[in-house]
Amino acid sequence: SCRIAVLISGSGSNLQALIDQLPGDHCQLVAVLSNRAEALGLQRAAEAGIATRVLDHREFASREDYDQALVAAIDAFQVDLVVLAGFMRILTPAFVRHYHGRLLNIHPSLLPLYKGLHTHRRALQAGDREHGASVHFVSEELDGGPVILQARVAVLADDDEQRLAQRVLQQEHSIYPLAVRWFAEGRLRINNLGRACLDGEPIPPGGI
Ligand code: GAR
Repeated sequence: SCRIAVLISGSGSNLQALIDQLPGDHCQLVAVLSNRAEALGLQRAAEAGIATRVLDHREFASREDYDQALVAAIDAFQVDLVVLAGFMRILTPAFVRHYHGRLLNIHPSLLPLYKGLHTHRRALQAGDREHGASVHFVSEELDGGPVILQARVAVLADDDEQRLAQRVLQQEHSIYPLAVRWFAEGRLRINNLGRACLDGEPIPPGGI
């Protein structure tokens, strides 16, 4: 069974979706790590009986030092997969390389659109009629790794940032558990060309 660590910084609603939806026979959530001690997701983890660790980035001299400590904390759990679920820190190339092919992220936009922050605001400002979320393998380029799965959400005439974000988040809660399950079942990988593959078939650039 696939041993999984989840990294969070905040509410952890995606973590909750994983707790609720991952099939126990293939997936074992063995650790939740946060850079913020106040993250609500730590309580969700504790309630589900999952080990938690807090590594406060403010206690480290550099990004490299922090990520090195993070790798050590994660690897102590001997995981097969690292899942970023609202972990709001940019990771160093060394961290990303260490988990090459076994590091997933969810980003609240239809990548390659709106990498970085304030994705919902930017989609509204651009007048987009469609917005959404993407699950992708993490590469050294910020929010630039191969996309696995996307969910599309219609932008409504009277949307504001909060309402749109809420509907996108709801979709995140379906696509992230699905992609993680695929990985745990051994169906998902990065091939030697850096493409994401499902059941050996390259996934198109826009995801499934
Ligand atoms: C989610 O919308 C996730 O896509 C986003 O943060 C939120 C976390 O919510 N992630 C990023 O913006 C990563 N750059 P959650 O803590 O309730 O899962």
